[in-house]
Amino acid sequence: MSAARIGAVLRDLRKVSFSALPPLALYVHLPWCVKKCPYCDFNSHERQGELPFEEYIAALVRDFEAMLPSVWGRRLHSIFIGGGTPSLFPAAQIDALLAAVRARLPIEPDAEITMEANPGASEAGRFRGYRDAGVNRLSLGVQSFDDAMLKALGRIHSADEARRAIGMAMDTFGNVNIDLMYGLPGQTLAMARADIEEGARFGTPHLSAYQLTLEPNTVFFSHPPALPGHDASADMQLMIEASLAGAGFEHYETSGFARPGWRCRHNLNYWTFGDYLGIGAGAHGKLSFADRVTRHERIKQPREYLAATGEVAQRAIAAKELPFEFMLNAARLVDGFATDLFPARTGLQARALEPGLRAAEEGGLVERSANLVRPTERGRRFQNELLRLFLPD
Ligand SMILES: C[S@@+](CC[C@H](N)C(=O)[O-])C[C@H]1O[C@@H](n2cnc3c(N)ncnc32)[C@H](O)[C@@H]1O
Ligand code: SF4
Repeated sequence: MSAARIGAVLRDLRKVSFSALPPLALYVHLPWCVKKCPYCDFNSHERQGELPFEEYIAALVRDFEAMLPSVWGRRLHSIFIGGGTPSLFPAAQIDALLAAVRARLPIEPDAEITMEANPGASEAGRFRGYRDAGVNRLSLGVQSFDDAMLKALGRIHSADEARRAIGMAMDTFGNVNIDLMYGLPGQTLAMARADIEEGARFGTPHLSAYQLTLEPNTVFFSHPPALPGHDASADMQLMIEASLAGAGFEHYETSGFARPGWRCRHNLNYWTFGDYLGIGAGAHGKLSFADRVTRHERIKQPREYLAATGEVAQRAIAAKELPFEFMLNAARLVDGFATDLFPARTGLQARALEPGLRAAEEGGLVERSANLVRPTERGRRFQNELLRLFLPD
């Protein structure tokens, strides 16, 4: 091939061009909690006095309106109200928020609308109010059913409060996720098993199991508790996969387990590199246009966010970064992804992913068939090793 032809091919691999845009989701961030947990690096802030509920909803609506010109003609296929502790907000405010969204952008009739709730800030009456406002899925931050573990995690709720909140959520929504964590301070395999087995017994259609990680800028990072070692945590992960498979859950994403037909549509949209608007303090989003993929991000501090005028800067993602960005999400899918998903979601040619995939296959990190790419067990366990292969030079 001539140098000019090679140059043309390389240029072609750098050109983003979409024939159809990905599905669009909306993430809404509500940034306050009763108390900051020592392991948490999310943009969550301890409540000080009364919260400015109405003012914050007004700021969210301003924020949403500022994004509308970027998504004209599109429909929302899911909404996720996360935090922080969204269940601190009265139902009337969630109703006002969803009504404002609905009035400004069409929402698909069967859209999944999830809200996060903390068992320490959960009431049956409020749950019914959220449901009447349009929320149809609740995600409960249970973490553990062991009071000693909850204390070690600095949580404000007890195991019994968690059990009660799950019962209320199942009665009100049916479509419920429980967040559990494992690899906790002083936790043994038997303790982790007891948590998972109890979590599976409530009949919720979805369960997430996260290994506790020590994140920079958290209390646990500067004062690390004694955690189970690497092998013990790996044993816990294997136990969780086997135990939940036995209870009828499908393991479909690194930390996600669902009964058949109940996978989280909103999160699947992230992992299949779909588009999403992110509104609220510190929220970020990703949008595709005919010839580029962009990211947008909001001011982190709630007080500054409230004072902002609603203008949003969008930054195009360089084409050479897209293979890594795509894999950062898609490599979490236990069943893998169709080969044509990469061009469909990045607007690049399929060949742009090839060098990384070839190296990953040689390293035993992915396996491939004619039209499917799937992380191997090794690839799932050593995600960083896999992802490194897709970093731009
Ligand atoms: C965005 S948080 C918010 C949920 C809610 N505020 C709560 O904590 O109850 C979602 C989930 O991430 C998990 N999580 C948070 N920090 C973590 C960490 N450092 N390591 C592992 N999982 C974490 C927890 O299971 C938590 O329920
Ligand atoms: S309740 Fe959730 S969001 Fe709030 S500090 Fe704890 S882990 Fe973070």
